[in-house]
Amino acid sequence: ATNRTFTMIKPDAFGAGNTGAILKMIQDAGFKIVAMKATRLSAELAGKFYEIHKERPFYNDLVSFMSSGPIVAAILEKDNAVEDFRKLIGATNPAEAAEGTIRNMFAKSIDANAVHGSDSDENAEIEGNFFFSQAERV
Ligand code: CMP
Repeated sequence: ATNRTFTMIKPDAFGAGNTGAILKMIQDAGFKIVAMKATRLSAELAGKFYEIHKERPFYNDLVSFMSSGPIVAAILEKDNAVEDFRKLIGATNPAEAAEGTIRNMFAKSIDANAVHGSDSDENAEIEGNFFFSQAERV
């Protein structure tokens, strides 16, 4: 079924000028952009976005990294969006990301891993709603 996922181009990829190349890979893989903005997360907002990881040892580093520079946030639509997008981006740790995946090509480390992708339909909905009102979606 056609459904939606949510992505962020993280500060490492945005800062390195890889936004256009990553968006091209996303579109070439058949995802339609239904909402998109360049923005910047304060530490407070990054902490809220990643609240589900609050008890994890990497939480503080993650929050400070995600608030270190501008990002692009987007909602994407495709058949089987969540699962197919996670295949396109590759493993969280770029050392384990398959050849040809976005993280294989652009990620530098497990924190500076170029992109985020929702891990379930439910989280895709929550994460899209975190950034976008209904009027901001096409
Ligand atoms: P993301 O998909 O944005 O979701 C949580 C982020 O935490 C993840 O990508 C990584 O960038 C970061 N992270 C850092 N260390 C870990 C870890 N050990 N396991 C999972 N995620 C981690």
